[in-house]
Amino acid sequence: MPTLTIDGKPVEVEKGTSILEAAQKLGVYIPRYCYHPKLSVSGNCRMCLVEVEKAPKLLTACSTEAAEGMVVRTVSDKVKAARRDVLEYLLINHPLDCPICDQAGECGLQNYYMDYSLAKSRFKNEDKVRRQKRRALGPHLVLDNERCILCTRCVRFCAEVTKTAELEVMGRGDHSHIDMKEGKALDNGYSLNIADICPVGAWTSRDFRFKQRVWFLKKTPTICLGCATGCLIEAHHNENTIYRTVPLPNPETNTWLCDHGRLAYKAVQGGDRLVKGVIKNGLIDFEPALREVAARIDEARGAGAVAVLGSPWLSIEDNAALARLAKDALKTENYCFDFASEQGIKDGILINKDPSPNANGLRLVKDAHGGISQAELSSRIAAGQIKVVLAEARAAGLIKDALKAAGTRLIVFAANKGEIPAATYATLPYASYFETPGTFVNYQGLRRRTTPPAEAPEGVKPLWAVVNKLAAYSGSSLRLDSAEDALKGIDLK
Ligand code: SF4
Ligand code: SF4
Ligand code: FES
Repeated sequence: MPTLTIDGKPVEVEKGTSILEAAQKLGVYIPRYCYHPKLSVSGNCRMCLVEVEKAPKLLTACSTEAAEGMVVRTVSDKVKAARRDVLEYLLINHPLDCPICDQAGECGLQNYYMDYSLAKSRFKNEDKVRRQKRRALGPHLVLDNERCILCTRCVRFCAEVTKTAELEVMGRGDHSHIDMKEGKALDNGYSLNIADICPVGAWTSRDFRFKQRVWFLKKTPTICLGCATGCLIEAHHNENTIYRTVPLPNPETNTWLCDHGRLAYKAVQGGDRLVKGVIKNGLIDFEPALREVAARIDEARGAGAVAVLGSPWLSIEDNAALARLAKDALKTENYCFDFASEQGIKDGILINKDPSPNANGLRLVKDAHGGISQAELSSRIAAGQIKVVLAEARAAGLIKDALKAAGTRLIVFAANKGEIPAATYATLPYASYFETPGTFVNYQGLRRRTTPPAEAPEGVKPLWAVVNKLAAYSGSSLRLDSAEDALKGIDLK
């Protein structure tokens, strides 16, 4: 374990640690462009130059291993001058795009220029080398080669993380630029991470481009519910509109995000969003829809022919409310919180074999409230014993064959129109987990809670509140005044 001194402070690090990482351990920030903690070291941008006693020249901190007795200076006059020179060099051919560049406000060039340079350019705008601008590459990205500083983070990401190696540096000297390899397409399922790691505005997201200046965005940490991995994300939003989600790197689950999970927020903001009730394909206001649903439940309830199905796509709170509706309000034994799933990372990166986010949370509800198996529920439906099934839209798909055969009335809860199964009798909208808090347990057993970055559309309530109203229509009270009330009796460990 070598011990070295950085800016006068001693620090002991593991063998193999770079000077940049050793400084980080001390809380000393060394500027960097090409260095990324999850990519190989390429040492090409020179932004991390530091002075090391007895070394004849400045050394790159990202690619120089910390050694016993080293004395490092990160803020000497020599280092400051080198940083100014590197920035001048990088900016010589950089276009004056800041007013129209999506990266403005979070750009490595802008920030370091303010922190380490503030020098006036000695080059004229008309002398700059021109390169190709605004080229759509793949379904999610646009490349502006004029803004590229050739740090090669994007190239290394595709070679090392997705192992698809679509990108490379072409040309030499002034003609060097990033391009696609022949015959490749930039659709590796993780491509939007490239826009995150590009330190400048060379790669931008087609989804986010020109939608919002970054300084207007508020940031809310929450979780992705695109699969059982449950990646941590940060939702960037303004005035009740979510504009993008980015990864919240953490050692337990994720540094990156898959494109599918990252763009999942769009479903609750597009034209597909359900804000009213639906009875037999016709949109009606929420209260009349609720009354109609309650009437159909009441009809079937007398004959003991109502069933409730839990869902691995719903939070523990909303599943628990459904269990209480079945047990305490409808007083039926026909309820099921049984869901078998194969879990584990399926692509070696992030995407889980289980496309639902809360199979493990559902198990806690089953432990607390019991219920019948999915096979038993399907056989009761197929035998004609059930007249009405109440389910979350995607979970209803799990018993669709039995429902079809028996002609049972299906009533679903859905956040989006696209989720509603064919032949659904009635649908009630509910607030998505971008709009209401909920607890989820990922495939590793990590329990995490969503933090809503936005408010639900007017009149759309959390599912536990919809269930509470349904219980009231059935003449019972579940006394659910908050999501936490639904958790009573659940062992969250
Ligand atoms: S496009 Fe961005 S990430 Fe790729 S080499 Fe250029 S500056 Fe680096
Ligand atoms: S891997 Fe799963 S949890 Fe992670 S971003 Fe993709 S869909 Fe979301
Ligand atoms: S960060 Fe060290 S050379 Fe680029």
